Amino acid sequence: MATDDPRAATNPLFNDNKFKLGTFAINVSNGAAITTVDGVFETTWPNVIKLAKIADEAGIEAIVPVARWRGFGGETNFNGTCFETYTWAAGLGSVAKNAAIFAISHVPAVHPILAAKQATTIDHITGGRFALNIVCGWFQPEMEMFGRPIMEHEKRYEYATEWLNIA
Ligand SMILES: Cc1cc2nc3c(=O)[nH]c(=O)nc-3n(C[C@H](O)[C@H](O)[C@H](O)COP(=O)(O)O)c2cc1C
Repeated sequence: MATDDPRAATNPLFNDNKFKLGTFAINVSNGAAITTVDGVFETTWPNVIKLAKIADEAGIEAIVPVARWRGFGGETNFNGTCFETYTWAAGLGSVAKNAAIFAISHVPAVHPILAAKQATTIDHITGGRFALNIVCGWFQPEMEMFGRPIMEHEKRYEYATEWLNIA
């Protein structure tokens, strides 16, 4: 990818592969599979490291978690055991040596100045391989754990724009 962005030198998201690959949801129980079958992903740190190393050594460009603060209930309580994504990315950043490591920020849950500081710190830990996925939050019981009603859909994106300008 032709770019003057200084991150191109360190972050595989800017490499020459036209089609980039990533893993998703290796920080949350069940990963992305709502099922009771044996062998679904269990959220332990050794399991995270094992999968991340396989992806990293295979040349996958991105390791992307899910920002989740509670499970969805029911028989599987999908994603009910979940690692917070900034601290997860910081830990993983010194284990996975090649891939870009993402955190996910729910804008109503993380102050933009804290987000900027955390992101910068993790970018140093990873040698310039950090990336941030910014989301507005849609799962009402989860967002309301932070003490405010969930915003109406359009308002969420206005708020996100302001959040980005501050960060
Ligand atoms: C690649 C990808 C990753 C996402 N990760 C999360 C996440 O970690 N947490 C979350 O609450 N929502 C996540 N979302 C959902 C989005 O924030 C958003 O709710 C969805 O794209 C639908 O848009 P809307 O809520 O504006 O209708 C993700 C969406 C995509 C496409």
